[in-house]
Amino acid sequence: MGNWLEHVKTMKTEQIPVTEPERQYYYMDVLKSWMEEQVREKGRKLTYHVQTFGCQMNAKDSEKLAGILETIGYVETDTEKADFVIYNTCTVRENANTRVYGRIGYLGTLKRKNPDMKIAMCGCMMQEAHVVEKIKKSYRFVDIVFGTHNIFKLAELLFEDIVKNKMVVDIWDGTDQIVEDLPSEHKYVFKAGVNIMYGCNNFCSYCIVPYVRGRERSRKPEDIIAEVKKLAAEGIVEIMLLGQNVNSYGKTLAQPMTFAELLREVEKVDGIRRIRFMTSHPKDLSDELIEVMRTSKKICTHLHLPMQSGSTRILKEMNRKYTKEDYLTLVDKIKAAMPEISLTTDIIVGFPGETKEDFMETVDVVRKVGFDSAYTFIYSKRSGTVAAKMENQVPEEQVKEWFDILLNEIKVVSEAQANRYEGTTMEVLVEEVNTQGEGMLTGRLSNNLLVHFPGDSALIGTFVNVYLRECKGFYYIGEIVQ
Ligand code: SAH
Ligand code: SF4
Ligand code: F3S
Repeated sequence: MGNWLEHVKTMKTEQIPVTEPERQYYYMDVLKSWMEEQVREKGRKLTYHVQTFGCQMNAKDSEKLAGILETIGYVETDTEKADFVIYNTCTVRENANTRVYGRIGYLGTLKRKNPDMKIAMCGCMMQEAHVVEKIKKSYRFVDIVFGTHNIFKLAELLFEDIVKNKMVVDIWDGTDQIVEDLPSEHKYVFKAGVNIMYGCNNFCSYCIVPYVRGRERSRKPEDIIAEVKKLAAEGIVEIMLLGQNVNSYGKTLAQPMTFAELLREVEKVDGIRRIRFMTSHPKDLSDELIEVMRTSKKICTHLHLPMQSGSTRILKEMNRKYTKEDYLTLVDKIKAAMPEISLTTDIIVGFPGETKEDFMETVDVVRKVGFDSAYTFIYSKRSGTVAAKMENQVPEEQVKEWFDILLNEIKVVSEAQANRYEGTTMEVLVEEVNTQGEGMLTGRLSNNLLVHFPGDSALIGTFVNVYLRECKGFYYIGEIVQ
């Protein structure tokens, strides 16, 4: 790499733009010439692999990282046997961390075989000081460590690592910056996620997200709409608006705007046929939003509305700011406006101090609402949160027993819900080839349920009408009707 490095030493700092995103485009350009030299030396292009461990927002960040690497000239590969591996981590529950630690060691063995390999760790785990300390101490082979606030800086950090040839660590405590207009890859050619806000201000007492993602910041509506239009022009037909609490969108903007108003604008974009969003906090879900959903032709008939617990006492301890009755009243209002709506939720079992009575309140809400599905989590203590300091942690055996009861309850209600549409014909967005059966495709209904049906892979990304012949619990088997 001699020549490139020599050339870099002659670079004048005054030439480097100070504003973003120009600065990152500058580094991408410099790295393109590094890549050319690598290709000449190695006789092949360098490969990259970004592994996402967390939520949709984490996945969206990974797409941005991939976009930067593709611009530099890396080509994607689907395993960790790559020249550049990035782990985009999650720390929402302890098992997310365990998964990452379980695999960093493996990267070390790969690097011994390919000493030029680069390894980067980023995402939510890296915002925790103890994690970064552990990596510095026990995983010296990691090249770059960065956090959630500066993912846009990947090119600059890679440049620094190549030039200095020692571990680069860059973690920001927080930011008020939103860097727009960097390249981004999307995994599918027909659907994509769009960030509408970053961070979270809610501080639910069990949750680490506000600590690792920082304060709530909304993107400007014109930037969001411009991105949606660009995606539509590229052929995207379904978009998912992303934020930890989309219902509080726009509150911090210079010219405040509600989430419902934003949805109205997104609805107007030609080419977009389906709009989804995630996640809705029950405390901020407005009548205006229900009205926009009810009258929209594009917003899907699905709402993810995390309840966390059915016990008013526990909800208070969780700092969720609604009661069991508030939640049930809200659900009634939503169902009255949209009888077809499919509701899904998140539930935590074993929050400190939870009793059998509290748990039965959760079961009661599950039965009353009739969720289409529910993600259930065993409470995980996250250091730094308010709940971590609570003394009355529930014994593991007890939590496991309740968890199994809850899974069973959910199975019963969700199967009953899914059955609703058996024997009807619905519009499906074809998503992929189904690997389970020869000649089978998988598509998604507006209500988010999946359907498998025979068909040609050329249909991927298009809408077809499918007769839902048989409900198999969480999905349907069907056939295309012309
Ligand atoms: N912003 C979203 C949730 C993001 S985290 C919301 O407010 O709904 C996704 C889910 O992880 C949460 O809904 C919650 O059910 C679960 N979760 C968060 N912290 C947790 C913890 N410490 N232990 C167990 N589950 C947790
Ligand atoms: Fe966590 Fe609550 Fe924010 Fe969701 S709303 S990310 S659960 S603090
Ligand atoms: Fe995990 Fe961070 Fe998302 S902690 S759930 S990846 S915001």
